[in-house]
Amino acid sequence: MNNEVKFAVIPCAGKGTRFLPITKGVPKEMLNIVDKPTLDYIVDEVISAGITNIVFIVNDEKEDIKKYYERNLALENDLIEHDKKEYADLIKHIATKANYFYVTQKEQLGLGHAVLQAKEIIGNNNFVVCCGDDITLFDKVSPIKTLIDAFNKTNATIVGGQKVEHKYINRYGCMDIEEDLGNGLFALKGIVEKPDLDKAPSDYGSLGKWILKSNIFDELEHTKKGKGGEIQLTDAIASLMKKEKVYYQVFEGCRYDCGDKFGFLKAVIDTSLANNEIREELINYIKNLKI
Ligand code: UTP
Repeated sequence: MNNEVKFAVIPCAGKGTRFLPITKGVPKEMLNIVDKPTLDYIVDEVISAGITNIVFIVNDEKEDIKKYYERNLALENDLIEHDKKEYADLIKHIATKANYFYVTQKEQLGLGHAVLQAKEIIGNNNFVVCCGDDITLFDKVSPIKTLIDAFNKTNATIVGGQKVEHKYINRYGCMDIEEDLGNGLFALKGIVEKPDLDKAPSDYGSLGKWILKSNIFDELEHTKKGKGGEIQLTDAIASLMKKEKVYYQVFEGCRYDCGDKFGFLKAVIDTSLANNEIREELINYIKNLKI
């Protein structure tokens, strides 16, 4: 039984429509939260969970992602020559902290289709999927670590998420719970993508993180376009559920949808307030705002 999770797949090939016009020139995953791109918060969370093989699903407009994670020897040498070795070390670290792979999604047919593009590179491995525009700030245990622990307990597909306000459950994959197994782990009897509010079986939402086994690829290959005309990962998981048990694990931390303007802004404010370099100044600035 191969119970290890050694790969992460980070879909970054979405159009970023909600963030136009900036996403015409800059991928939303590369928008900065203080001094790092959104994507790098996710990459660091993946690495902190012990995973160093990272597959980015990209499209032809996302060259900036590759540029950010590639070694830039000319810049490193220039920084060293100008007595800025700490910055040279910093940018070298970004390029060397993990093994990066890039797969192009030629048509934006949805999250499920994006994940399917990783089939060849993943082979028979288990893997975590993290949306490239979704970050969670946490105190102690990272969401990915929590999901991997659930996977190690069940050896089954894990959907990660949190309870959301009822009025927002129609934005997410929604859990139909079979049994509460304690410590945030639930056995599922169903999962529905973006249900109508009056039909939602619970307020437990799927929030951008999953642990999957390679058998998801068979399901994805047979998944037809669903909500929004897209091939939905949730639909593939619903189909897998007819054959085997799937579980839901609640993770801790404050989660931000950084593909949404206000979600991104909240992430910027909270990250800035947690950053000692700018915290004081920001608090003073906010206190003096004339609102
Ligand atoms: P979203 O639905 O949030 O991304 O997908 P989007 O399509 O870019 O959003 P809008 O509505 O146009 O603003 C969640 C994640 O899945 C990726 C996105 O990049 C994001 O990280 N994704 C989505 C793909 O990689 N390919 C797709 O075809 C769709």
